[in-house]
Amino acid sequence: MSAFKPHRWSRKDLVAIRDLSAAEIVQVLDTAAAFKEVGERTVKKVPSLRGKTMVNLFIEPSTRTRNSFELAAKRLSADVINIAASASSFTKGETLKDTALTLQALSADIIVVRHKAAGAPHFLASRLRASVINAGDGAHEHPTQALLDAFTIREKKQRIKGLKVTILGDILYSRVARSNIALLTALGAEVTLSGPSTLVPHQFEQFGCRVTWDIEEAIGDADVISLLRIQHERQHRTAFPSIGEYTAMFGLNKDRLALTKPDAIIMHPGPINRGVEIDSEIADSDRAVILDQVTNGLAVRMAVLFLCGGGS
Ligand code: CP
Repeated sequence: MSAFKPHRWSRKDLVAIRDLSAAEIVQVLDTAAAFKEVGERTVKKVPSLRGKTMVNLFIEPSTRTRNSFELAAKRLSADVINIAASASSFTKGETLKDTALTLQALSADIIVVRHKAAGAPHFLASRLRASVINAGDGAHEHPTQALLDAFTIREKKQRIKGLKVTILGDILYSRVARSNIALLTALGAEVTLSGPSTLVPHQFEQFGCRVTWDIEEAIGDADVISLLRIQHERQHRTAFPSIGEYTAMFGLNKDRLALTKPDAIIMHPGPINRGVEIDSEIADSDRAVILDQVTNGLAVRMAVLFLCGGGS
């Protein structure tokens, strides 16, 4: 950390990648690189957020995001409160706004929120003094996922500009896809989307990416292939005949992997559905960087908490 000189950061909240400039995205990635180095030391803790309190307010389930925000805050020496909807006064009818105001009254400085409703973090950010960090809102955005994905791509490929990145799967219902499209196009990557036509509509081309329903073409010259699971929890109609048919037509298997560039990396935000969007063997192979993404999530979330939480 000693050699790292941060620029001025003026954002209280991180609600969407679309709000960030390319320079701000790079600032988060550079800050995360400094924190990754801290994570490799024997003593992994720094006092940057000592005296501050972070609340994890997760109204949807999570393994990676919730736990890495908790560990990130602890490594920055913040106090941490975890709230699960099922054990809170949500069950008695308390609103999201009243819950957040209550947490702020308990001196929360940062509220990390995951909610099934798109716009919930924006709603809170405009009503609270506390910093609000979006940990995934409906099918809208998952900004820290896109930042950790970009960090991993930059680490593995030494650049993002000019890379061909293919995102494959359920694009329509994916907040990860929307945040990744915004970030990767802002940093100059060429983004291709592919999957069933019902889940990859041409309307996504308006965000500066290419849409093709031909998976072999989509993966053939990609430097990065990012797979997405089917978001059953957000789908209200059947988008394809069966899981078996989806796997046969769009799953990444050994035959399809043979069509890719030998140095193309395979990414997945998790949780993965083995044997559906990705063969188990590929998920566990050297080509996959899925667990590197998880590891990098910690440094990226430390960077976001540090910048938005006014760390020193
Ligand atoms: N990628 C991701 O958001 O995973 P979790 O749902 O486990 O947090």
